Amino acid sequence: MPASKTPRFIQTWQPDAAAERAAACAALAAPHASVAPKFFYDRLGSQLFEAITELDEYYPTRTEASIFAAHGSAIAEAVGSRMTLVDLGAGNCAKAVSLFPLLEPARYVAIDISVEFLREALKEVQREHPQLDVAGLGQDFSAELTLPADTMGDERPVFFYPGSSIGNFTREDALAFLRRVRAQATGGGLLIGVDLVKPKHVLEAAYDDTIGVTAAFNLNALRHLNRLIGSDFDPRQWRHVAFYDDTESRIEMHLEARDAVTVRWPGGQRVFAAGERIHTENSCKHAVEGFSALLEEAGFAAPRHWTDPQGWFGVFWARAD
Ligand code: AVJ
Repeated sequence: MPASKTPRFIQTWQPDAAAERAAACAALAAPHASVAPKFFYDRLGSQLFEAITELDEYYPTRTEASIFAAHGSAIAEAVGSRMTLVDLGAGNCAKAVSLFPLLEPARYVAIDISVEFLREALKEVQREHPQLDVAGLGQDFSAELTLPADTMGDERPVFFYPGSSIGNFTREDALAFLRRVRAQATGGGLLIGVDLVKPKHVLEAAYDDTIGVTAAFNLNALRHLNRLIGSDFDPRQWRHVAFYDDTESRIEMHLEARDAVTVRWPGGQRVFAAGERIHTENSCKHAVEGFSALLEEAGFAAPRHWTDPQGWFGVFWARAD
């Protein structure tokens, strides 16, 4: 039996804790207060997001999976063979690994904000796939995307960005992000999951579920912030608000002050009037034509897509020639 390979781990990015704290404080103090959606994802927040994906109302995760189940062979045929699969925001790597039988990658490069999130998952991936070349890359790919040549190998680079996380970007930032991916993808392409425009009541239920998991997920950002910047938010004083804005084609999530409240943190404070809101997330919904055009504008060629019968979610493939 050939000897098993071992995953390689590379951290190309060091979080600047002081700069992160300063940015979080500045966003709170700005005329329209905001908390960046990355603050949802501490340990508890990541577990709450997993719980969201189990909710009846939250259709994206299971709909995306159903598209891969129904159209897997057509997708695999379009994507082609002998690839380095680059997983953007890999986390527990489960989604990409579930596609291995379809895509049969020669190499798997998992990227997440910290290699520490990837270590255990990638060891398991390597155990299950002893002949696969496996690498973990710690990088904030929303800010920069640089792939060390020796982790990429000679195969075609196929980028994988599932889950409609692209929805958190504004149209402008999404374009810039897609261009960064395009610059690294020559010879391969991008396989991406995108949440589509649909009736308002379906969207609003998905972001304001009946048992309050999404509310907890939203409010948890305040606990995370309290730990990070030493603020004194009391989540009981805030209410989860989620609505669909038709003109912007996006869900907006906010936290609304139930009563007037002063929030203090070392070096600053802010008075919120009753009803005043902190913006925590945009989740943009795309039309098939609009997203295909965005891919082309970013330099990708011949976009194709597969959807579920209701047309709620799209899996797009576009080549980088
Ligand atoms: C992880 C960004 C795809 O926008 O649907 C779920 C996050 N926010 N419920 C999304 C989220 C509220 C999710 N993304």
